[in-house]
Amino acid sequence: MKILRGLSEMSAWSCERSASGKTIALVPTMGCFHEGHLSLMRHARRFADYVVVTLFVNPLQFGPREDFARYPRDFDRDAALAAANGVDVVFAPDPADMYPPGYQTHITVDQLSQGLCGRNRPGHFSGVTTVVAKLFHIVRPNVAVFGSKDFQQLAVIRRMLEDLNWDIKIIAHPVVREADGLAMSSRNIYLSAAERSSALCLSRAIKHARQLVGQGLREATTILSELRDLIAADQAVQIEYVNVVDRFNLSDQAVVDQDSVLLLAVRIGHTRLIDNGRLIEGEVG
Ligand code: PAJ
Repeated sequence: MKILRGLSEMSAWSCERSASGKTIALVPTMGCFHEGHLSLMRHARRFADYVVVTLFVNPLQFGPREDFARYPRDFDRDAALAAANGVDVVFAPDPADMYPPGYQTHITVDQLSQGLCGRNRPGHFSGVTTVVAKLFHIVRPNVAVFGSKDFQQLAVIRRMLEDLNWDIKIIAHPVVREADGLAMSSRNIYLSAAERSSALCLSRAIKHARQLVGQGLREATTILSELRDLIAADQAVQIEYVNVVDRFNLSDQAVVDQDSVLLLAVRIGHTRLIDNGRLIEGEVG
């Protein structure tokens, strides 16, 4: 497995592969790999000749009071895990090369970035779309794999590609969970034992919502008020949002249908956690 840091080095590697008719799948990440990231890497292999993983903790997508400085970083462990999961190239650019002095261009997907996580994290999605666009230009993949764990992120990136007439195929991978249901996240390591047990409220809420829908309940407000009560029963958990939305445009739904997704964000102590699940049928975004 190659480790590349230079932007032009990465582009040259990709151009050589494309020129010889090979395809490239990209998995963008911020590192601190867990099984969710590793599943994306293994999945990516099915769609292309080469798998490139980008490892870059993107300063642009963190708010001034967020966890950029303490975001977990362990390059050697991550590189070893990527190699063990069949990755061909880890691209880990230097922040100073990605955003040199004088940098001033940003990509913003207007409406889809505003609600839900965007409301509580102003500028976050603009940071995500800007870095993803840059990584796409540098790596030039045919396919890119994203987790549906970050459901709004996936929708925003799909919109950007469509709006910019960008011919990269996006593959969504289902949420990978711990055995007890907690969605894997690099931020789970911030949780104390008690907080980790409180965090199970997210997957429990999804399960409960599916049960209600299975019993024939379709009215979103009734489902949501039950879920809010269920989650709020634990004093350690602060709800940021719990919404039933249409999986394509993320607008709120009054009545649950085949395209409904339950989206949740909570704060437990200093840690912000998100989760989601389809309410009828499969899980992939
Ligand atoms: P990061 O949080 O490192 O996630 C990298 C990819 O792994 C994303 O596509 C995310 O949705 C996916 N992922 C994380 N946890 C997952 C889980 N439990 N199951 C399935 N997939 C999971 O998302 C980002 O980085 C950044 O915003 C990025 C897109 C790299 C731009 O900086």
